[in-house]
Amino acid sequence: MSKRIALVTGGIGGIGSSICKQLSADGFTVVANYIAPEEAKAQAWLAAERAAGKDVHIALGDVSNFESCVAMVAKIKAEVGPVSVLINNAGITKDGMFKKMSLDNWSNVINVNLNSVFNVTKQVVDDMLAAGWGRIVNMSSVNGQKGQFGQANYAAAKAGMHGFTKSLAQETASKGITVNTISPGYIGTEMVMAIKQEVRDQIIATIPVGRLGKPEEIAKLVSYLVSDDASFITGSNVSINGGLHMF
Ligand code: CAA
Repeated sequence: MSKRIALVTGGIGGIGSSICKQLSADGFTVVANYIAPEEAKAQAWLAAERAAGKDVHIALGDVSNFESCVAMVAKIKAEVGPVSVLINNAGITKDGMFKKMSLDNWSNVINVNLNSVFNVTKQVVDDMLAAGWGRIVNMSSVNGQKGQFGQANYAAAKAGMHGFTKSLAQETASKGITVNTISPGYIGTEMVMAIKQEVRDQIIATIPVGRLGKPEEIAKLVSYLVSDDASFITGSNVSINGGLHMF
């Protein structure tokens, strides 16, 4: 069997690059999506990964823009092949109390975190259906499950991802495709380190395990969900949050 191709959106970021590393180790050909301002970082990442012998590629594309996703996935298909594993991982925060939240900060977060899931998945699902096999993992958040002070935009987008997951999972379950959500808690990435230290310390104090999560811990879960062994898991939302939210 030829190697399966995995596309990871936001693939050179904190959690994304760990997912790419893990899926590469698992034997996938990995394509890491990035955006134009990250060009130099993406090229350096590609060079380092290839120097380490990895079968990786990078793909420029703005996941919040449908036409950009059409062009990006067409290029991947022509140059690498059809995508059979999609990790919708790209995400941003624009935190602020709702009374201070601008329309821009609402729209940007909904576009990058939620509309992106439509924009990218739409480009790959037909090839998964044709192959009779596919894996889609949507990277949500504990804050999509419980809400969070200062994150009305982010929590709405992240909760929306799971509604999408459950619907698409039902439509594709009989075709060899699984669709799942992962809801990480607070992971030690730049996104979390950008929270003011005193606020971050207060949040960490509420995590029963007593620490931030590690990107590799998320990547291991992705690895399992996209494996053949996980073919009976679909429409799930898997929490990985150190006990921050239990239900
Ligand atoms: N619950 C209740 N009240 C709270 C609160 C909370 N969780 N957090 C803050 N407040 C109160 C403060 O005590 C303060 O009260 P007073 O006005 O009476 O003093 C008031 O709300 C304003 O708080 P700030 O001074 O913090 O306001 P700010 O405007 O400077 O900052 C904020 C607002 C940016 C939202 C800041 O509170 C913050 O960064 N919060 C954390 C948001 C967060 O968790 N983001 C996650 C980012 S990482 C991520 O998203 C990844 C993931 O998936 C988990």
